Amino acid sequence: MLSQKLVDAFNEQMKNEFFSAYLYKGMVAYFTGEELKGFGNWLQVQTLEEMTHGDKFFTFLLDSGAAPVLLPIAAPKADWKSPLDAFEYGLKHEQFVTASINKLMDLAKKESNHAAQIFLQWFVTEQIEEESNFTGWVRKLKLVKGDGRGVLLLDQEAAARVFTPPAAPAP
Ligand code: FEO
Repeated sequence: MLSQKLVDAFNEQMKNEFFSAYLYKGMVAYFTGEELKGFGNWLQVQTLEEMTHGDKFFTFLLDSGAAPVLLPIAAPKADWKSPLDAFEYGLKHEQFVTASINKLMDLAKKESNHAAQIFLQWFVTEQIEEESNFTGWVRKLKLVKGDGRGVLLLDQEAAARVFTPPAAPAP
């Protein structure tokens, strides 16, 4: 069972995850339009991952006997000045998501809701990887300083990312 406060906070985080998918899908459009299709691929995989994150909250709410509420999703920023601009924004967004997951964990602890804490643990760990991924691209893009050949090499690296669907898909 989840308290109404936890249900509300879980619905809000589900929205944040689906918003992340929306934000990164917009970046797919930007990078693909710039002929950086490797980065477009990387962000498409990121989009699909964010959908699975939202689905995890959806399923957990249902399994806990609560009704998931699909809150309105705002239009994401979409006017990127450069690949670095987009990835710096993505990193800031992931830092925001980490902070909101941590707040959720604090609430679950305060309410001694063990199931919610165990569920959220996966996200606490996942956020380390999420921030690390975006930090990596920011650092590499800073290294090449906008040099076309450097950016194209990074684009090739980004093309290798593959989406791995979760082992137990949401119903
Ligand atoms: Fe689902 Fe990128 O946080």
